[in-house]
Amino acid sequence: MQRIWEIAQAHRQMPGALLPMLHALQDEFRYVPDEAVAVIASTLNLSRAEVHGVISFYHHFRRHAPGRHVVQICRAEACQSMGAAALEAHAKHMLGCDYHETSADNAVTLEPVYCLGNCACGPSMVVDDEVVGRVDTATFDAYLQELRGTTREAS
Ligand code: FES
Repeated sequence: MQRIWEIAQAHRQMPGALLPMLHALQDEFRYVPDEAVAVIASTLNLSRAEVHGVISFYHHFRRHAPGRHVVQICRAEACQSMGAAALEAHAKHMLGCDYHETSADNAVTLEPVYCLGNCACGPSMVVDDEVVGRVDTATFDAYLQELRGTTREAS
């Protein structure tokens, strides 16, 4: 809670403080904890419903802690034209989960993303903070094998 308060205080004077605050919270905790909603609401003089509304509007914000790693697959048009649909079907099959879910071994949370600015090299994905282009099923499997054998360093 202390860290949530500190982040809220550090961002309260910014113009349009809500979004920077949510980004900072997610950067810190890898998701926006439920406990933060009341703190944000009181800091910015908003209702909890307003804060919840913004968190749920933006798919970027997570409501729950993700797995050890996060893989985001681009679903935007350029990547779709290069085979992203087959890639995402393969990813869901290999992970045994859908978007916004985590594999049973807690290794990977799968998320959709809509354009990474890497359109010329589609299909694209992000593995934690690394943008990867021209991803086929073999590339995905190689990353997955690595991710399942490693743990994310504590941040
Ligand atoms: S459409 Fe996928 S990176 Fe732009």
